[in-house]
Amino acid sequence: MITTPRLQAHSIETLIVGLFAMTTVSAAEPPDTNYDESKVPDYQLPPLIQSDASPPTRESWRQTRRPQLQSLLEEYVYGKTPRTALESIDYRLEELDATALNRGATRKQVRILLDPEADLAIDLLLYIPNGADSPSPCFVGLNFYGNQTIHPDPEIKINPRWMRGNRDIGIVGNRATKDTRGVYQERWQAEKLIDRGYALATAYCGDIDPDNYQHDYADGVHPLFYQPGQTKPGPGEWGTIGAWAWGLSRILDYLIAEEHQIHPQQIAVMGHSRLGKTALWAGAQDERFALVISNNSGCGGASLYRREFGERIHHMIRPVGYWFCLNHAQFAQREQELPVDQHMLLALVAPRPLYIASATRDQWADPRGEFLAALAASPAYHLYGKSGLPSETMPPPNQPQHGTIGYHLRDGDHAVTEYDWDQYLRFADRHLLGKPTESD
Ligand code: GCU
Repeated sequence: MITTPRLQAHSIETLIVGLFAMTTVSAAEPPDTNYDESKVPDYQLPPLIQSDASPPTRESWRQTRRPQLQSLLEEYVYGKTPRTALESIDYRLEELDATALNRGATRKQVRILLDPEADLAIDLLLYIPNGADSPSPCFVGLNFYGNQTIHPDPEIKINPRWMRGNRDIGIVGNRATKDTRGVYQERWQAEKLIDRGYALATAYCGDIDPDNYQHDYADGVHPLFYQPGQTKPGPGEWGTIGAWAWGLSRILDYLIAEEHQIHPQQIAVMGHSRLGKTALWAGAQDERFALVISNNSGCGGASLYRREFGERIHHMIRPVGYWFCLNHAQFAQREQELPVDQHMLLALVAPRPLYIASATRDQWADPRGEFLAALAASPAYHLYGKSGLPSETMPPPNQPQHGTIGYHLRDGDHAVTEYDWDQYLRFADRHLLGKPTESD
């Protein structure tokens, strides 16, 4: 396996922090990052299924263990998401064109109004295949820099809100200095999805909570749920990933209501990197997501904390501790004491199909840790008579394994590529649509 660490995305992050947030994080890879497999500590994962006197059953998992694990992940990793419904929410169709993508799709742009007073809204972009005889299956995922980045389609509204700096695509000082239309087209593969009969729904994560290193929990959805006098979430309350996951569920509410066009039982949630962590947490909490995909989600996503390989909690506190709840930071350099590990997060998706994807040059995200977490989550699938991961051996690059949990290690960088989507589509064809694949 290639063991070049991922420097690019991380060093851009730290550089931006250094330049704009005036923190002491250096632009270099943290010097204590471990990329040596022989230095992974001997660790013991907290038990997924508790072994008390009676043998575990599907019922004891569903009624007792699963809710316990969700509470532990709330308490120590992501924080608890408010359960109260937002009264002010409203959905407004702002644009519709049945001739989008060369007449192959209908484009809808829908504004999900969260709070008219705070000017808080999620701008949802939806492409639905034309000519389908029944409601379409759908992939939904958040994007990093606005809907206009996912395709060059000139009718996509440009997101005017605050954006994190990214010199690669010309966002400097939180403003776009050049046209960002279609800059992340490869990450979304809109035409391919439409050709294969899938709808695509996406929204900018910053519409829900801006990914601002100077985070104050004041400009996203958190304040909508504060108690009188509260100004930030408590130690076990939701951080930014929790807010983004909540936003995905509000998008899902809309998609489910579109049942004449979108099949409500065939909606997959997908995310890359920090938004892969988010897709997992959204899929874990909201069982209406029929399939869950994590693309290179790494630390705080699909990989195991206890391996202490690549990114670790103490690397995240500055700059991005706000993605998690405050309690999470207590486990910096104390991963072995964390009451949970990420196999538990993955197991909350059971028995629904789950796909974990890693990349060889993304060692910062610990591909082996992602594979091992998927393997350790498999017993929850077995309780339902499902296969989990089909093999205990990590596959070589570009050789996907597809059980009810799918896994691949793509050759290459931290990214979402056409290769990744080819695997997701094959997996979704099989699990959402019941189409056999060539290996069946
Ligand atoms: C950084 C961060 C990762 C995250 C990634 C991303 O590299 O350290 O945890 O997954 O950014 O979201 O791009």
